[in-house]
Amino acid sequence: MRDRRLDATLGGMQPDIIPLDPADDPLVEEVQALRVAVDAVDTPDFPPPCPREFRADLTAQTSGRRVEPFVARIDGAVVGYLALWLPLRDNLDNADASLMVHPDHRRRGIGRALHAYAVDRVRDIGRKRLTGASVEALPGGPARSDAGRAFGTAVGAKASLDEVRRRLDLTTADRAAMAEMLAAARSRATGYQLLTWGNRTPDEYVADIGYLEGRLNSDAPVGDLTLEPEQVDERRLREREGVLDAAGMTVYSAGVVHEDSGKLVALTTLARAATVPWHAWQWITLVDPDHRGHRLGALVKIENLRTAEEHEPGLRMIDTWNAAVNSHMISINEAMGFRAVDSWVMWQQEV
Ligand SMILES: CC(C)(COP(=O)(O)OP(=O)(O)OC[C@H]1O[C@@H](n2cnc3c(N)ncnc32)[C@H](O)[C@@H]1OP(=O)(O)O)[C@@H](O)C(=O)NCCC(=O)NCCS
Repeated sequence: MRDRRLDATLGGMQPDIIPLDPADDPLVEEVQALRVAVDAVDTPDFPPPCPREFRADLTAQTSGRRVEPFVARIDGAVVGYLALWLPLRDNLDNADASLMVHPDHRRRGIGRALHAYAVDRVRDIGRKRLTGASVEALPGGPARSDAGRAFGTAVGAKASLDEVRRRLDLTTADRAAMAEMLAAARSRATGYQLLTWGNRTPDEYVADIGYLEGRLNSDAPVGDLTLEPEQVDERRLREREGVLDAAGMTVYSAGVVHEDSGKLVALTTLARAATVPWHAWQWITLVDPDHRGHRLGALVKIENLRTAEEHEPGLRMIDTWNAAVNSHMISINEAMGFRAVDSWVMWQQEV
């Protein structure tokens, strides 16, 4: 690491911004160390970023999206990181940025330099808007830096959707309440069959799952973000499974099949990184609008969690994000024992 006294002399110096070559192992490792340092300061309760997942993401060229990673360096040392995620099937005017600056090098213009670079690049490739996310504290929640909101505002982005991260602590979860919730959900879900699977989506439900996933951007609240429905077909699903396999992620999914039509009409997914046995991310949960009101959302979530816990004895924490206004999903999560931790702002900027 760089000497802090030396850092004091760097004020005003412009960083070099170069593409990150995924085959450049030492550079990839430096960026991974930066990611660890950033999380330790900004979201200290996050699971440590998984190096295998990072490497897989850097090479994840699929027909659905590609990534362009860059590093900012001063005197050869990595001080910032930018990844531009570019959808390739839909949302062709959008680019989503992950942008971070090492905690020891903040407030020196490195963030601004990376942002300016991102705007130029996004314009060059003919896209019209840039999105990104930052964390902030909730009233009564753990302390979080004000930097993300100050930075988003300073660079002229618009806060376009408020999300809240909630965490379920499985070591203190109210198991009786969850069992009661599951029993109530099962009793309301007559005419539906539960199905669980792992990393590979069952062939017969690929089309139904693609349809449900494609609904997410229109069914879940997106605030002022400009998002089109995603086009999710078999090729895209299988490619994504390949990326998750390469990343070493373990995926648990549950769905319900409507017995009369044979269609899969509800879906939920948990995923655990290779290097973090104690933690899983709760990803999508979606129920087809024609089948709402049967507690299928609660059913798939609790059943999926039970399956994951059976296979993952070390699992202790689950994190999930919801739009702050997504009252239906939030009420299921709160009833399961998820509790709000921090607030996430989705930024959007026309470039
Ligand atoms: C947000 C982040 C990228 C800023 O990086 P940075 O190199 O410190 O940013 P800059 O020095 O270029 O700051 C640009 C402007 O943002 C504002 N700003 C940034 N951090 C701030 C802070 N802690 N308090 C108040 N204003 C701040 C200021 O207006 C600043 O201009 P100024 O220094 O001339 O007053 C960095 O804090 C970070 O990596 N945070 C975690 C990840 C994240 O939130 N990314 C942003 C996604 S939108």
